[in-house]
Amino acid sequence: MEWNWTVAIWAGACLVIGSLILGKKKKGSQGRRPPGPPGWPIIGNIFDLGVDAHQSLATLSRKYGPVMWLQLGATNTLVVSSAEVAMEMFKKHDLAISDRAINEGFKTDGYDQASMVLAPYGTFWRMMRRIYTTELFTNNRIKATEEFRTKSMDKMLEWMWKDAQEKGSVEVARFIEIMNFNAIGNAIFSKDIVDPIFNRGTEFFTSTTQALELIIQPNVADFFPWLRWLDPQRVKKKMKPIMRRIISFSSSLVKERILDRENGKRNEKKDFLDVMLDFQGNQLDGESAKLSERNISVGIQELLQAATDTSTSTIEWAMTELLRNPKIMRKVEAVTASSSLIHTFEWSLEDGTTPDKINVNEKLGLTLRKADPLKVVLKLRSAAENVAKMDQ
Ligand code: HEM
Repeated sequence: MEWNWTVAIWAGACLVIGSLILGKKKKGSQGRRPPGPPGWPIIGNIFDLGVDAHQSLATLSRKYGPVMWLQLGATNTLVVSSAEVAMEMFKKHDLAISDRAINEGFKTDGYDQASMVLAPYGTFWRMMRRIYTTELFTNNRIKATEEFRTKSMDKMLEWMWKDAQEKGSVEVARFIEIMNFNAIGNAIFSKDIVDPIFNRGTEFFTSTTQALELIIQPNVADFFPWLRWLDPQRVKKKMKPIMRRIISFSSSLVKERILDRENGKRNEKKDFLDVMLDFQGNQLDGESAKLSERNISVGIQELLQAATDTSTSTIEWAMTELLRNPKIMRKVEAVTASSSLIHTFEWSLEDGTTPDKINVNEKLGLTLRKADPLKVVLKLRSAAENVAKMDQ
């Protein structure tokens, strides 16, 4: 978690006022709460989170155990840090923990109200999950998009090779991200939605990065609800134009489709946008009869983001580990398909970098991304080489 001066000053001010009123809280005044580090009045354990919250929490849990209590300003927080306890929480207390705490930044323009990812457990969330489970995350949909996905992969290999020739080395995640984005984009819209050569769709990436940076930055208004009206760090204000640019990306594609349909143009194969537009709710328990245009646009924007960052980060880390373990890389080369990333290119590190010198530090984002993007030098393998590898 990246701290900045505004948070430090606001939290410091709250601490001084709180200390004057209450004095330092004594250990043992916390009733039957799980153990946790002692907190300061008003600000509680905010500063215990440190620069990298996930690492500070891991260190604290070694001292206080797998179930730990933190008071982050006015927010009571239970930290679970063992697989066994997490399993128990999800099995026995799933309803109590199924809702997410929503950051103030996400409330910009009422975004949280249209979001499935942020929706509390209830009718809207169940309805969206039903659509995704029965229409998107299915074998049929995966099979139906096979051709698109193969094309997205081939294009990525072409773009990477072009970039490698121009620049000498390639930032792997950039191209994987575009491929993943087009793969999910094709399942939704039946077309490529981003093209790095024409800079099409790249504004979406820039805006989502900016939004993420604002969201993960600690916001005093999240810790002290009585400061929300003030938006002290101007998070919501800064978020507004960014959020609008992000949503307008998916909403313009939705509008385009609605217009096509009004003009009698129909897709031969029903894609996921068609499914969303044709959806008919059962109107039970307050379920709506149709999905609103806003719900569709926000839902699609979330799918694009949820699918892209996670898969890209996973592949980038996997490639990093293979480059750190040349023996395993050779084994993988022998078993992967001929049109894959690993088969098409011979991968090597930039001059001066050896496998043991690859930086494996992480940075917090939507997922734990590599702090230092993986850069590689590519050599195109000949078809004969690939066949020989396959025969090994
Ligand atoms: C390696 C790839 C992926 C990883 C590691 C990953 C991981 C996650 C995690 C940890 C969550 C949060 C679960 C929770 O807090 O309840 C999540 C939620 C979600 N993911 Fe993924 N994901 C991946 C790929 C995808 C893809 C490809 C899609 C869509 C095509 C997707 C769509 C979603 C959606 C819609 C949610 C929200 C579910 C809800 O709130 O009920 N994810 N994912």
